[in-house]
Amino acid sequence: MAAMHPGAIAYINGQYVPVEEAKISIMTHAFNYGTGLFEGIRGYYNAEEDNVLIFRLPEHVERLTRNAKVLCMDIPEDSAAIEEICVQLVRRSGFKEGVYIRPILYKSQESLGPTVLGIDSSLCCYVIKLGDYCDTESGLDVAVSSWRRLSDNAIPTRLKSTGSYINSSLAASEAKSAGFHEAIFLREDGSVAEGSAMNLFVVQDGKLITTPVNADILVGITRNTVMQLAREVFGLEVVERSIARTELYTSDELFFCGTGAQVAPVRSVDRRLIGNGQTGEITKKLQDLYFEVVQGKVPEYRHWCRPVY
Ligand SMILES: Cc1ncc(COP(=O)(O)O)c(C=O)c1O
Repeated sequence: MAAMHPGAIAYINGQYVPVEEAKISIMTHAFNYGTGLFEGIRGYYNAEEDNVLIFRLPEHVERLTRNAKVLCMDIPEDSAAIEEICVQLVRRSGFKEGVYIRPILYKSQESLGPTVLGIDSSLCCYVIKLGDYCDTESGLDVAVSSWRRLSDNAIPTRLKSTGSYINSSLAASEAKSAGFHEAIFLREDGSVAEGSAMNLFVVQDGKLITTPVNADILVGITRNTVMQLAREVFGLEVVERSIARTELYTSDELFFCGTGAQVAPVRSVDRRLIGNGQTGEITKKLQDLYFEVVQGKVPEYRHWCRPVY
């Protein structure tokens, strides 16, 4: 069978191998119980420099290793080693285009019983080529999901854990099968959380509003990037507060953000047009700047970009 991802390299058991050869046992704890933590990291190709720039690599690795504490994970590779593995994977794949790097810390022991204690953990990682994850041009038609967002006392969304993506998969699938592009999750209390794999911002009266870090969201690195760019470059006010469902419908502008989603305007929520249905002015200028920044073209934020070659 032809390789699904020709040239893609993986890191597993301390070795670099072609992705097709990176295999785990069906008895692996993480496969049985969802006890894995992962990251999604993008690298952007900069044609002028003929280089791939990995965006905010240390921040992704920091989130991964910090959250590993919650699952009592201990692995031999430290943060510097994980960063180096990510760089090496792209280098060894030879990719010179947009890439997506997926480090996974997982309970690798072949062991029965749901516990996070006393189970060996390992790191594996792979790289694939990746273009747009969702449309960033025309505006997305989204629906409020009938699935509620996981809560911090059940399966913490702060952790990018493999098991928690059942929640995302159910919401995204429901939305797509009803003819929408994406879903927005509400929390158990009915307030807004985030999209299935992205954070969201509402724009109201020239101000950016996003749900706070304790609102059952994954605390996104793109969310942080957008907040910083909005404040530092455009002098915009950014507020972190609870958002009510109806504020989605009445907002002037609405957009998703995430490593996969990038900055993606939302055109409608539950068939109600946001603004006049066109990408809003603030969304557009943040999106344009974001794409410049990730490609290493803005000197003030160049330190966020790690060259591979
Ligand atoms: C549920 C969820 N929320 C938000 C995000 C955005 O996080 P980041 O910007 O760190 O990629 C993601 C990941 O991509 C996600 O899966």
